[in-house]
Amino acid sequence: MLIPPPLSLYVHLPWCVRKCPYCDFNSHEGKGALPFAGYVDALIRDLDQDLPLVWGRSIHSVFFGGGTPSLFPPEQIDRFLQTASSRLRFAPNLEITLETNPGTAEHGRFDKYREAGVNRISFGIQSFDDGCLKRLGRIHDSAEAERAVKLAQDAGFDNFNLDLMYALPGQDLAMAEYDLQRAFALQPTHISHYQLTLEPNTMFFARPPKGLPDDDSAWDMQEHCQALLADAGYAQYEVSAYARPGRQCAHNLNYWRFGDYLGIGAGAHGKLTLGAEQDILRRWKTKHPTVYLAEAGSRESLGGDERIAPERRPFEFMLNALRLNEGFALVDFETWTGLARDLIAGPLDHARARGWLTVVGDRAVPTELGRRFANDVMELFLER
Ligand SMILES: C[S@@+](CC[C@H](N)C(=O)[O-])C[C@H]1O[C@@H](n2cnc3c(N)ncnc32)[C@H](O)[C@@H]1O
Ligand code: SF4
Repeated sequence: MLIPPPLSLYVHLPWCVRKCPYCDFNSHEGKGALPFAGYVDALIRDLDQDLPLVWGRSIHSVFFGGGTPSLFPPEQIDRFLQTASSRLRFAPNLEITLETNPGTAEHGRFDKYREAGVNRISFGIQSFDDGCLKRLGRIHDSAEAERAVKLAQDAGFDNFNLDLMYALPGQDLAMAEYDLQRAFALQPTHISHYQLTLEPNTMFFARPPKGLPDDDSAWDMQEHCQALLADAGYAQYEVSAYARPGRQCAHNLNYWRFGDYLGIGAGAHGKLTLGAEQDILRRWKTKHPTVYLAEAGSRESLGGDERIAPERRPFEFMLNALRLNEGFALVDFETWTGLARDLIAGPLDHARARGWLTVVGDRAVPTELGRRFANDVMELFLER
């Protein structure tokens, strides 16, 4: 029996001041005056179209991602949240995150985001080294990044994440450590620590920057930084996510636990369990902001949809669950995929024999080795 898991709301805001050369997100350099109000109107039409898929269910977290959501005036974020909370049931004390580029932080804005209901900020810091920031094409320097974080703290945001990247062009181990020390000084509740990857369809992929650390150096940076994060009280709970106790990102945890999410906005993806039909639906919206603005709320705005067939569900579940240090409960596998645990007994045994997983009681937990070879472990669960 397939039972719907907790439901989150993802809202994609697609514009940035400038496109970063490493970024393959659906983000577009905003030229001239951006149609913020028109885009929020489109979001509301989009939401209204999706509502019948989630009647009666509560929303457990909201995430404004991008792009650069902090380009949007607080009044528009407020209007969207007011409308969404009148259409959907918001759970008490739900986490509402807004991604912020420090180069867009303005005095007074954070108070208003807070008044609108935002209670968590995620800053795209990347590095505190001005040379690295320049090579990454960022629009801010390290002083501006610190200023932005302090503005948010002054406005009362005590729950915030800093995104950092490592294995940057021209970076060595000491520089990676320096970035973390500067981050710790700001007392974030959460740090996301990503290895820079060269993604197809980016400028860096077409022309890799000079001075990229080799694989061994990148691995040393990861191991060293993991230890520093642990010493500073940030427990790793996912491949790239570290948090102070009780401060894991509820929204991302829901993705990794194979939760459901509504995806609203240009190019946004959603995953929804349809209880009555005993099926799982993925659907996504048209990608380009201009087309989205014109079509949101109509059939044409759907980029596509597909059902996750039962044979594919074990792999899709593991793709997320095996990223988590906590692993997963077998009973959650059963209720959220609608499949019996016997179906994955073979691959689980195989992974156990290789030292990739331990199964204690009802929980399967990846070992350190399993997390290192996560792709191999996931492959075991592919349909044959
Ligand atoms: C959508 S962006 C977040 C906020 C905002 N757009 C910004 O960049 O300031 C999400 C995060 O993903 C990370 N990221 C983006 N591209 C990446 C890449 N190619 N490799 C590793 N991390 C990447 C960055 O740390 C970035 O802050
Ligand atoms: S600001 Fe963020 S979303 Fe925008 S291009 Fe840069 S990394 Fe991508």
